[in-house]
Amino acid sequence: MAVIPVELGGRSYDVHVGRGLLERAVADGLLPSPGGGLCLVADGNALAHHGERLLHVLKEAGAAVAVYEVHGGEAAKSWSELERLTDWLLAQGVERGDRVLAMGGGVVGDLTGFACAILKRGTGFVQLPTTLLAQVDSSVGGKTAINTAAGKNLVGAFHQPSLVLADLDTLATLPERELRAGYAEVLKYGVLGDAEFFDWLCANADAVLSLVPDAIEHAVATSIAAKARIVAEDERETSGRRALLNLGHTFGHALEAATGFSEGLLHGEAVALGMVLAARYSARRDDCSLDDAERVTRAVSQAGLPTEISALGLECDGAALVDHMRHDKKMQGGTLPFVLLRTIGAAFLAKDVALEDVALFLDEQLQTH
Ligand code: GLY
Repeated sequence: MAVIPVELGGRSYDVHVGRGLLERAVADGLLPSPGGGLCLVADGNALAHHGERLLHVLKEAGAAVAVYEVHGGEAAKSWSELERLTDWLLAQGVERGDRVLAMGGGVVGDLTGFACAILKRGTGFVQLPTTLLAQVDSSVGGKTAINTAAGKNLVGAFHQPSLVLADLDTLATLPERELRAGYAEVLKYGVLGDAEFFDWLCANADAVLSLVPDAIEHAVATSIAAKARIVAEDERETSGRRALLNLGHTFGHALEAATGFSEGLLHGEAVALGMVLAARYSARRDDCSLDDAERVTRAVSQAGLPTEISALGLECDGAALVDHMRHDKKMQGGTLPFVLLRTIGAAFLAKDVALEDVALFLDEQLQTH
């Protein structure tokens, strides 16, 4: 078991990584105020697989737990669902000092976190992430948001949780495709800032993806520690440091938009492809070696993740993909900073990228692989 602090002064909190955390949370004094009322917001999968054991320990400790189920996947990150959830939390009499529990994947964490950010101008919440992607990325760092007609995550707030419990047992019930998609975010930490971790992942990908206990714990804890360091340095993404966590996301979001944010391409799969594209584009600009770009491609492929956008069957060209990028919230004065590579383990923010050149590169990628 690992405990990773996210050092943010008065908003600091710990991320616990280990097995059996949901069962032990009350006994270990981690979960708040059993004995009173508690609100649990969760998605159907999390409730079906882990709801009973969590509710059991909370009820045994004397908590009256009100449960709210979030339906509809990514579509639940909407104005209407936000309104429904905040009204429900108000109806439960949630107070600022309470800790609303958010159990599930990124959708539940983002929606509940945002609801808590605006509820009574800021109510506490605890993240109980049950997907690999949520454990290593979205539950840590306080980004909360909903989607609007104009794009993903365009309305939101920075609102840090007061605790994150990443219970590795929850990963055992994840569909394999979702586990692999989450692995893309794990690999991201190696590619952007830790060559040693990247090499370790290349040697241990099968063990991580088979959930061998030591391997999955090392992968998740190392990823969260990397994120915690970056968030502590640049909580609100102002210095450029936190922006490095967007490696693969600018290309990836364009691919998700081109595929209609559908099940055809999961977010983690888009990030995997985006990382490959960022590495190849870096090599094309001579920022990194072709060998490094190929190593990133091999590591993505080794995890059973997609590496070629030509295989997506997209009915659009590079210019259309770049048009999706123009809606990115990171656009600054008509230019878009891209996270590119100098080498594996050394990403940087390139502010001199011409979108027309990216469109040409994407046309090549759509045709040549
Ligand atoms: N998912 C990127 C970040 O939290 O900054």
